[in-house]
Amino acid sequence: MSSKLSIFICQNCGSETSQYFGRCLNCNSWNSIVEEIKNKRSNYQEITNSKKSIPFNEISSKKISRFTSGFREFDRVLGGGIVPGSVVLLGGEPGIGKSTIVLQSAGKISLNEKVLYITAEESLEQVKIRWERLNQSSINLKIFAETNLSLIIEEIKRLKPSFAIIDSIQAIHNHEMQSSPGSVSQVRACSSELQNLAKENNIALLIIGHVTKDGALAGPKTLEHLVDTVINFEGDNISSHRLLRSIKNRFGSTFEIGIFEMLEEGLREIKNPSSIFTNKENISGVTTTITNEGTRPLAVDIQALVNKTFYSNPRRTTTGISINRLHQILAVIEKHVGIRLSEFDCYIATGGGFEINDPSSDLGVAISILSSLKNIPPLANCSFIGELGLSGQVRKSNNLRTKIEEAVRLGIKNIVVPKLEEEINNNFQNLINIKEISNIKEAVEYSL
Ligand SMILES: Nc1ncnc2c1ncn2[C@@H]1O[C@H](COP(=O)(O)OP(=O)(O)OP(=O)(O)O)[C@@H](O)[C@H]1O
Ligand SMILES: [Mg+2]
Ligand SMILES: [Zn+2]
Repeated sequence: MSSKLSIFICQNCGSETSQYFGRCLNCNSWNSIVEEIKNKRSNYQEITNSKKSIPFNEISSKKISRFTSGFREFDRVLGGGIVPGSVVLLGGEPGIGKSTIVLQSAGKISLNEKVLYITAEESLEQVKIRWERLNQSSINLKIFAETNLSLIIEEIKRLKPSFAIIDSIQAIHNHEMQSSPGSVSQVRACSSELQNLAKENNIALLIIGHVTKDGALAGPKTLEHLVDTVINFEGDNISSHRLLRSIKNRFGSTFEIGIFEMLEEGLREIKNPSSIFTNKENISGVTTTITNEGTRPLAVDIQALVNKTFYSNPRRTTTGISINRLHQILAVIEKHVGIRLSEFDCYIATGGGFEINDPSSDLGVAISILSSLKNIPPLANCSFIGELGLSGQVRKSNNLRTKIEEAVRLGIKNIVVPKLEEEINNNFQNLINIKEISNIKEAVEYSL
């Protein structure tokens, strides 16, 4: 018995309903809902033919053997390299450098593995021009310019590469579907077919997807739950630094980052990332903190500018930390250091605009604010680590030992931290001057 089942998918946010609406219930956009036909019978068959459960200890657990992407920083973000049969989604804003990093990587991988690069956006000639600029070798690299999904699948099956790249998912389409390339329906349908192909043939697949900051291109977003690993490629048009950030990883830790620089000859890994987010100048309003990004400590400057306000409501803006965090820190300073800040504007910016999510940067933010307000540089050559509690206490920080080690490596002489285990403190004797504090007041007295 074959019956067809209709589902309705919003082309803006990807939400599914069983009925047509003129306006999406999830994202409120008008006329964004499109009908898709699902074949009920195939679902039913899948269930009846499915395999039986087996005891856990009968599963053979072979170790994952990864291969390198050719970039240490890329491998780090992937959790140690590319896993055969895995599907990675590489998202990023248009023009950020997705094709560049992937092409460089493809060249390096092709020295040991069979690689297929599918270009659906650019012609062979365009890719060749980039290729020549990047000056790569291509032992075992094949390129295929195609947008038709069935032809792409045929070629992958024929070639059986270890690694295949789709550049990009928005440009390919399944002819059996009505919707246009790039629509949520197309993106999802194409991806799930490619995913099955990758799993069945043990091919590592990297899918490029354009994603904008305001989420205007939702297609790839709706794939995040489908794929094994989601990586974002970030940066701005002003600086040449680029960040790879893992936001989901079935084969490694998330929130791992890799740092690159975009040069004429392509992307180059940054070997000492702490150096690009710090300035080491001793001026008022600037401190250095050491945050944790995945498994790696990273030194980042925090700059504050505190000025008397001309507005009825003081202005508060942040780059690199959340505005709510700033409001909370200002409230803690008011209450527990006893300084009124309501007459002051306050601007915070991290070095290079680096996005800090580690709450242990609070103390650095607070000291920067007070330093700017008083117009006094903080204690020279000093880093600040500690999360501020609402009652003014400085709370424990994750991975404090590795953060202190990073400070030592960078030649920082003083570090202000929450109370430590004695053992850690002993480890660093003669290497760095550690000041343990329990609340914000002590930190201020010590450093300003
Ligand atoms: N000749 C060049 N010299 C230096 N940098 C260049 C040169 N040509 C391009 N670039 C850099 O490469 C970037 C484009 O890279 P790439 O095409 O890999 O990005 P993408 O994310 O794939 O973009 P798209 O959205 O167009 O697919 C440009 O923004 C620029 O920074
Ligand atoms: Mg591109
Ligand atoms: Zn919607």
